[in-house]
Amino acid sequence: MEWSECKYEDNGIDSWNEVNLIYSAALKQVQTKMEVLNDEFQHVHRYNPIEHIKSRIKTPESIVKKLRRKGYESTIDNMIQYVDDIAGIRIICSFTSDIYRIADMIREQKDIKFLSTKDYITYPKASGYKSYHMLVAVPVYLSNKMVETKVEIQIRTVAMDFWASLEHKMHYKFEGDAPEYIKNELIACAKMVSDLDARMLSLNEKISGLSNEQETGA
Ligand code: GTP
Ligand code: MG
Repeated sequence: MEWSECKYEDNGIDSWNEVNLIYSAALKQVQTKMEVLNDEFQHVHRYNPIEHIKSRIKTPESIVKKLRRKGYESTIDNMIQYVDDIAGIRIICSFTSDIYRIADMIREQKDIKFLSTKDYITYPKASGYKSYHMLVAVPVYLSNKMVETKVEIQIRTVAMDFWASLEHKMHYKFEGDAPEYIKNELIACAKMVSDLDARMLSLNEKISGLSNEQETGA
């Protein structure tokens, strides 16, 4: 079935173009919200928890692939119901402590509906993957209706992001069948990333402690 042939009264979304429009609007809202929170944080604490933000809409090809993998037909209704990461936003920060700070700020937003979370920082994947995932829904207001739209938020440090990019490249290249020595080397690098994140956080706390002492003359 073609996307354009799908008509679903339930959610009122009837074409791929409309899906694209709605999910893009949801992404913009979440991105702007994050920027506002970051600016406010800078204003109050003189510090930016967010380094940068990346966002993307999943391509139709990769949505179809995911639906097939999950055993669903390619319909608009199924993609809306079963593909949680059509709209994806990645928030990159400096320190592990920033991740939880940002996650808490998101949870406190009254107009963001919190759906679920996956803490791959406390419980990393066997691959070595670390990141904090949140699934939320935001209301998108069109001229004649409101559509509650899911957005997947991934929060990770610069170092975790560096690692995940290379690991993703490996997956892509070997289609999930990578040589053992490469997988092992990536697991070893994941350990180094965790150590680096822990040391940088501790160093940052020491530096902040010292500058506070200097300011108060202690
Ligand atoms: P998917 O069906 O792949 O989306 O998995 P899921 O629905 O069980 O969600 P999960 O939280 O495991 O993964 C969602 C997203 O996180 C993926 O699309 C990737 O962007 C990222 N991710 C998860 N696991 C890994 C990993 O091992 N390596 C890398 N590089 N990225 C990962
Ligand atoms: Mg997913």
